[in-house]
Amino acid sequence: MTPHDTADLDELRQSVADAPERVASASSIAELDVVEADLVGRSSPVGEARKGLGEIKDADQRRATGKAINDIATDLKSLVDARRDAVASAEQAATLMSDAVDVTLAGRRPRRGTHHVVQQTTDEIIDIFVGLGYTVATGPEAETEFYNFTALNIPATHPSRHESDTPYLDYGDKDEEILLRTHTSPMQARYMEQHDPPTYVVVPGKVFRADAVDATHSPVFHQLEGLAVDDGITFGDLKGTLASFAKQFFGSSTKVKFIPHYFPFTEPSAEMHAYTNGKWIELLGCGMVDPAVFDQVGYDAEKVTGFAFGMGMERMAMVRHGITDLRALLDADRRILEQYR
Ligand code: DAH
Repeated sequence: MTPHDTADLDELRQSVADAPERVASASSIAELDVVEADLVGRSSPVGEARKGLGEIKDADQRRATGKAINDIATDLKSLVDARRDAVASAEQAATLMSDAVDVTLAGRRPRRGTHHVVQQTTDEIIDIFVGLGYTVATGPEAETEFYNFTALNIPATHPSRHESDTPYLDYGDKDEEILLRTHTSPMQARYMEQHDPPTYVVVPGKVFRADAVDATHSPVFHQLEGLAVDDGITFGDLKGTLASFAKQFFGSSTKVKFIPHYFPFTEPSAEMHAYTNGKWIELLGCGMVDPAVFDQVGYDAEKVTGFAFGMGMERMAMVRHGITDLRALLDADRRILEQYR
């Protein structure tokens, strides 16, 4: 339809009279684009009216009608543009809101780790002996039969050499059996071979036995070996050193007693028991280094004497913390382990 007179222009105005409501109801840029096309696009009433302008033969009337149509289009366009600004800033505000970080929210902390109680125990015991002047050494877990037994004066027929106690490895040549060390004592021999006396050393480490897991046994556990060799070391030095260790580790009122025992690599040998938590409990094995061991490693048994001791780290941790089942230490349950921070 092309307006040829005032009545036609009124009709055109009438057809877009609801433009303010239609523009206002568009709530996104996409919706507004559709409304804009309906109002002033090529196929809209305004667009159609423009297309027909050429049909008006009178130049003055054509110019006047063209201007009137343009005025209507300009009004519509400014309505749309105003709404476009409003919708754009509302959309931007919504994006800002949804992307906003709430800095007042409580954070999620990573859980704090802790050393295993056996590691803590080992570290603490090492510290005590370092305080007494000892150095720290470590040795191989896969050991030769020589260092694990022979160098320690353990006879070839000793039952602990049997496969039912010792895990042997199918490794190396058969003249020299390789096994998983059953105690940290082999480091006594290895250390003395490498270092001249005076010797004051502790050796923490993992040891292995052909045992099944129960409340007091595990095929893998940890020991700490101690060795002191010097001029004139006596059994009194052994007792004083280990009693002092027990008081530092279990508390200053801890009483200890030494009960005769037998180990092939010490003579005399003893077990040290301690009185803690209202009862006597066996803590460790110890004794004066047997001269046969000094002979094996090239120390002069006429010149030096010494004492040695070996203790289980799991046992120390259990006595110290009143843990009655070893399996609590093997479990990776953090609810248990976190109690011993
Ligand atoms: N090696 C012994 C064991 O595993 C413990 C031990 C006893 C170590 C007496 C020593 C010692 O150094 O003197 O049962």
